Amino acid sequence: MKILVTGGLGFIGSNFIRRALTETKDEIVNLDAMTYAGNPENLADLIPHPRYRFLRGDITDPRAVRQAMEGVQAVAHFAAETHVDRSILDPAAFLKTNVLGTHVLLEEARRRAGEIKRFLHISTDEVYGPVLKGKSREDAPFRPTSPYAASKAAADHLAAAYHKTYGLPVVIARPSNNFGPYQYPEKAVPLMITNWIEGKPYPLYGDGRQVRNWIYVLDCVRAIGLLLRKGKPGDAYNVGGEVLVENRALVERTRDVMGVPRNLVRRVPDRPGHDRRYALDSGPLSRLGFRPDFPFDRTLRETVAWYKARPQWWRPLKTSSDFSSYYQKQYEARTKEIAAP
Ligand code: NAD
Ligand code: DAU
Repeated sequence: MKILVTGGLGFIGSNFIRRALTETKDEIVNLDAMTYAGNPENLADLIPHPRYRFLRGDITDPRAVRQAMEGVQAVAHFAAETHVDRSILDPAAFLKTNVLGTHVLLEEARRRAGEIKRFLHISTDEVYGPVLKGKSREDAPFRPTSPYAASKAAADHLAAAYHKTYGLPVVIARPSNNFGPYQYPEKAVPLMITNWIEGKPYPLYGDGRQVRNWIYVLDCVRAIGLLLRKGKPGDAYNVGGEVLVENRALVERTRDVMGVPRNLVRRVPDRPGHDRRYALDSGPLSRLGFRPDFPFDRTLRETVAWYKARPQWWRPLKTSSDFSSYYQKQYEARTKEIAAP
């Protein structure tokens, strides 16, 4: 099968492509705009692969999308602006890529009615908003809180509408928090690991009692591969990890793995609108035969080892001007918030 992957130079997309090229016979076209989060190093070794083709282009550009979808049977749509803290500072790019970009892809797929056998839209558990007790099922109402989550909720609804209105074979995946190799070091797990390797503190937001439902990225991409083949058009599938972990417990577990002192955690003002807890019920995915393969503690150790072994991968990202200007903006915004009456 020839698959158009969008956002394949990012964290989950690059893990998906790596797996697809080693464990399936699929042909991959990767359309990626190479934003700050799209790192060509993630797939540099696969450039000569005969079943892989990279196209630099933006999903909001109908011409680039038309060219990329030529001869394709399935779309795996990962491309997005993904960092919640950045969406709080500056939502515009999130609306453009996540909503309008998804629309351009859906329109091109609709134009090719019959050719596209699956349009797998990668959504997120954040569309449900915080769930204080129990677990969100796929039919739970959407209550997104951050601009990121709101843009993903709009894209999710739009993808579902293209199935209902035009019969496009859309399948929606809603993963929980992923961790593992190739994750941009602004996100909690790689930020914590790489800060500690550098002897710097990790900024823990608020009281650290927020809960996330962690899944190892190789489990997530295997689930996405399964949904591309067996997902029922029109259905959405939660892709949740087996563990629910409070942020302060994540800090302790990672501290134990790395053996770092307590003073390398710094309490900082909370993220505005910080969702307290996410938890997914992934019943429909498990009924398709999916079971997570990777236990949390082992893969957390392996993830630490991966970043320890590859400073040449993450150091250039952390010393880039984009990284420092983002942190400067965030610092200024959060400092103002505490000073405000
Ligand atoms: P990422 O930020 O690591 O990568 C995003 C990729 O999309 C980058 O390669 C970037 O260059 C590309 N991109 C951004 N804007 C683009 C545009 N306009 N045109 C083309 N390419 C563009 O993201 P990720 O963490 O790998 O997430 C992938 C998908 O999974 C996203 O849709 C995200 O919402 C969803 N998701 C992520 C997680 C997680 O924990 N990381 C969990 C649930 C859902
Ligand atoms: O739930 C799925 C979502 O997971 C995806 O849709 C998003 O694209 C992805 O970025 C992620 O969002 P989160 O906001 O949950 O992930 P992040 O790694 O930014 O933060 C995880 C938790 O850790 C969250 O409660 C905020 C907290 N945190 C994060 C950072 C970066 C801190 O306490 N300190 C930090 O410095």
